[in-house]
Amino acid sequence: MKKIIGIGAVSLLTLGASLALVGPGNSALPQVEPAYVKECGACHIPYPAQYLPKRSWERILGSLDKHFGENATLSPKALQPIKAYLDSHAADSAAGNPRIMRDVAVNNTPLRIVEMPFWIHIHHKQIERKAFDTPKVKSAGNCAACHKGAANGQFGDDD
Ligand code: HEC
Ligand code: HEC
Repeated sequence: MKKIIGIGAVSLLTLGASLALVGPGNSALPQVEPAYVKECGACHIPYPAQYLPKRSWERILGSLDKHFGENATLSPKALQPIKAYLDSHAADSAAGNPRIMRDVAVNNTPLRIVEMPFWIHIHHKQIERKAFDTPKVKSAGNCAACHKGAANGQFGDDD
C-alpha cells in the first residue's frame, strides 16, 4: 500500500480544511468551496475534486439535468463558484496529484471516480467485487459506506 499513501494525504489536505475539527493551526490549508459542499454534497458526499480530471468535472457540470438519473440542475450563477473550484482542484490541476491521473487515457473522460484507474487499482486488488453489491454499500460510489471520514475527504487506512 506504500505507493498510494499519498492519495489519502492529499485528500486530507484539500478537503479536511473545511472541517470544524481543523484547528486554527491549520488555517493555511486550502478551503473547500462552501457552495460545492452545499450543492454537490446534498445527495452524496461532496466527492473530492482531485479524484477526477478537469474534463470530467466539466462534463458532469454540463449535464446536471441528466445526472445519474437525477435532475441536479443549478443556475449559472450558482454553478460559477463550483466550476471554478473543481477546475482549480481537479486531478490534473496544479493542486492535483499526478498519481491520480496515471493510466487515464487522454481521450478518456470518466464520469465516475470508480472508473478511474487509480481507484480500480486500489479497490479491486484488495476487495472482492461482491463487497460493493451488499445492501449496505449499494454502489461503489457510496464511499461513506466503507470510509467513515469520506464526507470530510478522509480515505486513509483508519477511516
Ligand atoms: C439530486 C441529487 C444529486 C445532486 C444534487 C448531485 N448529485 Fe451527484 N450523484 C447523484 C446520484 C444519484 C449519483 C449516482 C450514485 C451511484 O450510483 O453511486 C451521483 C453520482 C455522482 C458522481 C459519481 C460518483 C462515483 O464515482 O460513482 C459524481 C462525480 C457526482 N455525482 C458529482 C456531483 C456534482 C459535482 C454535483 C454538484 C454539481 C452533484 N453530483 C450533485 C445525485 C446527485
Ligand atoms: C466496499 C467498501 C469501499 C467502498 C464503497 C469504497 N472504498 Fe475506498 N477503500 C476500501 C478499502 C477496504 C480500502 C483499502 C484499505 C486501505 O488501505 O485504506 C480502500 C482504500 C481507498 C483509498 C486509499 C487510502 C489510502 O490508504 O491512501 C482511497 C483514496 C479510497 N479508498 C477512496 C475511495 C473513494 C473516493 C470511494 C468512493 C468513490 C471509495 N473509496 C469507496 C473500501 C471501500
